[in-house]
Amino acid sequence: MRDKFIIEGRHKLKGEIDIWGSKNASLPIMAASLLNSGDLILDNVPPVKDNLTMAEILRYLGLSVEFLEGDKVHIKGEPKGYRAPYELVSRMRASFELMGPLLAYFGEAEIPYPGGCRIGLRPVDLHIKGFESLGAEITVDKGFVCARAKKGLKGAKIHLDKPSVGATRNIMMAAVLAQGETIIENAACEPEVVDLGNFLKSMGAEIEGLGTSTIYIKGKKELKPIDYYKIIPDRIAAGTFIIAGIMIGKDLVIKNIEPEHLQSLFIKLKEAGVNSLQIRDREVRVKGEKVWKGIEVTTMPYPGFPTDLQPQMMVFLSLAQGTSLIVETVFENRFLHVGELLRLGAKISIDGRTALIQGVEKLKGAPVEATDLRAGAALVLAGLVAEGVTEVLDVDEHIDRGYVALEEKLSALGANIKRVSYEEGKKVSDLSL
Ligand code: EPU
Repeated sequence: MRDKFIIEGRHKLKGEIDIWGSKNASLPIMAASLLNSGDLILDNVPPVKDNLTMAEILRYLGLSVEFLEGDKVHIKGEPKGYRAPYELVSRMRASFELMGPLLAYFGEAEIPYPGGCRIGLRPVDLHIKGFESLGAEITVDKGFVCARAKKGLKGAKIHLDKPSVGATRNIMMAAVLAQGETIIENAACEPEVVDLGNFLKSMGAEIEGLGTSTIYIKGKKELKPIDYYKIIPDRIAAGTFIIAGIMIGKDLVIKNIEPEHLQSLFIKLKEAGVNSLQIRDREVRVKGEKVWKGIEVTTMPYPGFPTDLQPQMMVFLSLAQGTSLIVETVFENRFLHVGELLRLGAKISIDGRTALIQGVEKLKGAPVEATDLRAGAALVLAGLVAEGVTEVLDVDEHIDRGYVALEEKLSALGANIKRVSYEEGKKVSDLSL
């Protein structure tokens, strides 16, 4: 059985929503907890599917992991194995980030080669080159990437060809226990990289330059256990609700956010003519807008416009006055939602990595398929604002990876949305609510 959302559009969103912790920060931090031999509570870790998968892998490796009330996770114990199982790793690419901490802890690690995924090939060459620079020998055996550094890792200067978020984090987790200094040049500056760095620092790791393109790490013989760490808010979830609020909100307050992490979104929204956002210390108040205009958006590594908000922004621009351009520079195939938006009446054409969007007056409900996590979120936004009923298929496989019970959160704000199970292969119903 699969799950779908059935959404009757045009119901205004009103009220308050608390934004949960960032899954793209909690995933590597859970992986890094392999290096924390104590009894740890990680706070602000929502039970989204990806976090549950990471917990299962950590259990397989010998840790005890328990989700508690209030988005807390209790992690304790020490890892007993350094080989992660294919069945679990294949569900989520971020599990490749177990390699750094396992290699640091055991001097060896074996992780299944992550396959491509729908948004792009997503190779791991930069991770591997980084581990090799630190002195690990890498082989691929029966589909597993095997890394060995029996004599320990040695600090090195590593220049990343691209500022990869995952490679920066993986190398950082390995380097904190390497001998000597590691310098990562062209490092990713994303808040989720900084959060992992801060977690490692709280265990005594010596790291400088977080949030800049050069990170310096002085390797330590060992780290000290800590018992509590709180994960940063999910900037992509916050951005998703902000865009929803502008399109179909009456008076929506999005709380527990870090406005600094959302600057590129705020700048683009202003350019499109959105002037009603009230940004305070840890919240944004959004009043619905009636009209906005087309703009150009290019996705870039942080602090540029995030690729993870590109599909949601495309829905917004589909309803803008005039023409917009979106250039996707981070992933080579992140326009899968375009075909689905066309079914709702959007006017979009694609040329390579550029989408040309001709604003339309309205979208009209139809059955559509979530093809990845953020594309799925964008289709939900489209359903909320479209006339009539929209069905978003495959929500359990994609949207649930990063949003917990999204339908309940939206219903509490006034949306008309429900989750329904359906048999695979029997996809489309009669669109009745
Ligand atoms: N790349 C390489 N070689 C590598 C690593 C990356 O060529 O060894 C390429 C990728 O193929 C991609 C680009 O570099 O074209 C950027 O990839 P990056 O490594 O930065 O991404 P990631 O670490 O795999 C994380 C997030 C993604 C987010 C990207 C970009 C997590 C768990 N995932 O992925 O989140 O889109 O950074 O910001 O943190 C999502 O949440 O929906 C999501 C896909």
